[in-house]
Amino acid sequence: MVVEGLKKYFEIRKSFLETLVSRKREFIKAVDGISFEVGKGEVLGLVGESGCGKTTTGRVILRLEEPTEGRAFFDDIDLFSLNGEELRKMRRRMQIIFQDPYASLNPRMKVGEIIAHPLKIHGLSEGREKDTVLEFLEMVGLTPAEDFYNSYPHQLSGGQRQRVAIARALVLHPEFIVADEPVSMLDVSVRATILDLMMKLKEKMGLTYLFITHDLATAKYVCNRVAVMYLGKIVEMGSIDRVFEEPLHPYTKALLSAIPIPDPTVKRERLVIGGEVPNPINPPPGCRFHPRCPFATERCKQEEPQLVEVEKGHKVACHLAA
Ligand SMILES: Nc1ncnc2c1ncn2[C@@H]1O[C@H](COP(=O)(O)OP(=O)(O)OP(=O)(O)O)[C@@H](O)[C@H]1O
Ligand code: SF4
Ligand SMILES: [Mg+2]
Repeated sequence: MVVEGLKKYFEIRKSFLETLVSRKREFIKAVDGISFEVGKGEVLGLVGESGCGKTTTGRVILRLEEPTEGRAFFDDIDLFSLNGEELRKMRRRMQIIFQDPYASLNPRMKVGEIIAHPLKIHGLSEGREKDTVLEFLEMVGLTPAEDFYNSYPHQLSGGQRQRVAIARALVLHPEFIVADEPVSMLDVSVRATILDLMMKLKEKMGLTYLFITHDLATAKYVCNRVAVMYLGKIVEMGSIDRVFEEPLHPYTKALLSAIPIPDPTVKRERLVIGGEVPNPINPPPGCRFHPRCPFATERCKQEEPQLVEVEKGHKVACHLAA
């Protein structure tokens, strides 16, 4: 997956009265010019606080939302130029796992029907879908499969529901998965088992993941590389090991400071930042992080730092670090 200069702006709908006062159109700059790659078999983490544009990025790549600008390629296919039958075919190869296993499963459908549904939509059922569904139930650890086949979502726990959602996403044998906070709504005790399952299935089925999470500790557990987003931009990107060992952007340092360190002999520089993510309608000028950054200078308020490579594969957008 290659993404270049991706932007997604949402126009703010104004009331009739507001349009009389100002005709100016206003936009929420949810994603504001980001570029990244996810190599085959890789897990790229997309990390950042609420509202920084992670979900929007995933949805636009899957064409669940139309891009404002930019390009995206999968297997050299230009995703944003696909239409009709071509887009339908591509949808089989790219799937999403949502955050909320309670909202994402139709409560009136049996688990068996939920997993068979994508097969039906894509005309792949051929009367053998029950065998396929049972096989996938086994694969995601819902056994005895026959029992789960006939149950309804409300009879399952959060973790079991997320296993159903994973089976549904994988039943078409996709290659690329956007996993949007797949464990953040689950009980802490089952998170690791669901993540382990996702990684096991990645190996088994040759998957590539864009793994969205607000939590760097989860990213460290599953990702090879990580891209840190702030207000619609990528501020740091690199291998998970290097970003953890030597975070370069103050925002990444602050996110890392929030993670408890299990080993008391390991010291990590702590950086606590205050405030909240500003409004993405009028992002701050210069470096978008400057109102919250303890190191901000005059230059930071005026000049926007570009994302530059400071060591192989490790990029940062900060005047101090580059
Ligand atoms: N359909 C939409 N219409 C208008 N604004 C939207 C829409 N979807 C998202 N936004 C806005 O775009 C910005 C980015 O939202 P997005 O959901 O991508 O963030 P996120 O990083 O996934 O946050 P979270 O961690 O809360 O899921 C937010 O300000 C959000 O309110
Ligand atoms: S560019 Fe300036 S304000 Fe932005 S993160 Fe770096 S030091 Fe802080
Ligand atoms: Mg989100």
